Amino acid sequence: MKKIALIFGVTGQDGSYLAKFLLKKKYIVHGVRRRSSSFNTKRIDDIYVDPTNKNANFFLHYGDLTDSLSIFKLIEKILPDEIYNLAAQSHVHVSFEVPEYTSNVTALGTLRILDTLKTLQKKKKIKFYQAGSSEMFGKTKNKIQNEKTIFYPASPYAISKIFSHWITKNYRESYNLFASNGILFNHESPLRGETFVTKKIVTALVKISLKKQKKLYLGNLYSKRDWGHANDYVKAIWKILQHKKPDDFVIATGRNITIKEFVNRVCKKLNMKIFWTGKGVNERAILKNTNKIIIECNKKYFRPSEVPSLKGDYSKAKKILKWKPLISLNELITEMVEYEKQQINQ
Ligand code: NAP
Ligand code: GDD
Repeated sequence: MKKIALIFGVTGQDGSYLAKFLLKKKYIVHGVRRRSSSFNTKRIDDIYVDPTNKNANFFLHYGDLTDSLSIFKLIEKILPDEIYNLAAQSHVHVSFEVPEYTSNVTALGTLRILDTLKTLQKKKKIKFYQAGSSEMFGKTKNKIQNEKTIFYPASPYAISKIFSHWITKNYRESYNLFASNGILFNHESPLRGETFVTKKIVTALVKISLKKQKKLYLGNLYSKRDWGHANDYVKAIWKILQHKKPDDFVIATGRNITIKEFVNRVCKKLNMKIFWTGKGVNERAILKNTNKIIIECNKKYFRPSEVPSLKGDYSKAKKILKWKPLISLNELITEMVEYEKQQINQ
C-alpha cells in the first residue's frame, strides 16, 4: 500500500521540494493551497496532474490554517499517514507589520491541526511534523545552537513558532500523538520567495550584471545566518517522521556568514569586482570598472529587532537520523545564479 502524505504549505519553497521528494518515494501526496486572486501554484505546476487521471498521485485541495473547519474536513476525508505542517506567514520582517495575522496562522494554525489529530486518533494514528525555526533562538548568547539551547525570540514570527513548538510537544506528551518538531536553520534554493535576502541579492545582482537593473537596496549587512539548501532539508524533514519515536531535531550546516559576505560571494560568481565604503545605513558597494554605486542600505529594510547570529549544531540529527547537509553554500549560490540567468533569458 502506498503511503499517503498531506502537506500544508505545498505551494511554498519547502512544500514544493517535499512534494517532489515524496512522489519519488512513491507516496500519494495531497497538498493544501489557499485561495488567491492570482496563481500561487507556480512552484508545483510541473507535478500537477488532472485529478480525473486514474494514475494521479498528487492532489490539491483548498484550505487555510485560519479555518478550523477546512482543516478538520480535509484531514478527516484524506486520513493521511503523515502530515507536514509547512504553512506559515513565514516572513520575519512582515510579522512586525501583521503580528495578529502571523500569530493566527503560524501559532494557532498548528493547534488547529493538532486538535484535529487528537479528535481523529481513534480512527487513525497520523504522524505530524511541525516546521520550527532557528529564529526561535533569536537573541541567544550561545554561539552555536542545539536542541537544548534556550529560546529568546525577537519577532512575532519567532514567538508564534515557539507556541507551535511547545503545543506540538504538549500534544505529544498529553495525548501520545506522534508529533515531532524540526528546528530548521535558513535554507534556500532557486525557488526561494523573492523577498528573502538570498533570493533578493541573487536576482538583483544577476540583473545588474546584465544591465537590466541599476541598484539593490538592503538592510542590516552584518547579521550572520547558517544557510543550507532546501533540497537537503526536506530529506531531513522526512527522516524526522520515519524515526521510530517522535522527537525534536536541529537541522543546519554548522557554518554561518554575514549578508555582506553572501553578497561578496555572489559578486565573485558573477565576476563583478566591487568595493565597500561608508558605515551603517550609509554603507554602499561600488562597481570598480564603472565607479557606480550598485548597493545601498535603506532604513526600510532594517527590522525593529534583529537576530544577529544563528549557527546550528546538527549533531543529534547526524547521529540519530544519519542526516547531514550535502550541498555547500557555494554550490547553492551557483545554482541560484544559473537559475536566475535562465529566467532572464527566457
Ligand atoms: P514559504 O515559501 O513562505 O511557504 C509558506 C507556505 O505557507 C506557502 O505555501 C503559503 O501559501 C502557505 N501559507 C501561508 N499562509 C497560509 C494560511 N493562512 N493557510 C494555509 N497556507 C498558508 O516558506 P518556506 O520557506 O517554504 O518554509 C516552510 C515552513 O518552514 C514555514 O513554516 C517556515 O516558517 C518554516 N521555516 C522555513 C525556513 C527557511 O529558511 N525556509 C527555516 C525554518 C523554518 P501561498 O503560496 O499561498 O503564500
Ligand atoms: N529579507 C531581507 N531583505 N533581509 C535582509 C535585507 C533585505 O533587504 N537586508 C538585510 N537583511 C537581513 C535580515 O535583517 C536578516 O538578518 C537576514 O538578512 C536574513 O533575512 P531573511 O532572508 O528575510 O531571513 P530570516 O533569517 O529573517 O528568516 C528566514 O529564516 C528563518 C530561519 O532562521 C525565513 O525563512 C523564516 O521563515 C525562517 O524561519
